[in-house]
Amino acid sequence: MLRRIALAAVLAGLAPSAHALDGDSVAGKSIFQRICHNCHSAEIGVNKVGPSLWNVVGRQPAAVPDYAYSESMKRNNAPWTAAALDAYIADPRGDVHGVKMHFKGLADAKERADVVAYLSTLK
Ligand code: HEC
Repeated sequence: MLRRIALAAVLAGLAPSAHALDGDSVAGKSIFQRICHNCHSAEIGVNKVGPSLWNVVGRQPAAVPDYAYSESMKRNNAPWTAAALDAYIADPRGDVHGVKMHFKGLADAKERADVVAYLSTLK
């Protein structure tokens, strides 16, 4: 319980998104392992088809060294707040971020909140 409150406080500091506050990092971990892990590692320095997502929450896009990002991701200057991650995961191939992530996205807002809650534990 304390951990959830601490996590909610962290997410609230990043973005005032109601969805992010509801995120369940345990559920998010299993969604990550089922869907994102095909292309992303949660470990520092381990890139797969996609870049490592270790410590992604709060940092700049396209910041993992030795990963060949798309031009559109390199041009994306908006930090990965909970709200920015939520929007990206909802529609990774939307016009803002280009098309390199060949993943249709997570339509369910609760699942996105859970994944973002899990990503915020990767420190
Ligand atoms: C089919 C492979 C694939 C799947 C599945 C996938 N991704 Fe990605 N992801 C990528 C690729 C490739 C990129 C690099 C995009 C670019 O450079 O435009 C990326 C980029 C990202 C980034 C930006 C990272 C950075 O360093 O700026 C985030 C955040 C992200 N993905 C989150 C997720 C999450 C969360 C999931 C699961 C819900 C997921 N991805 C599922 C392939 C995938």
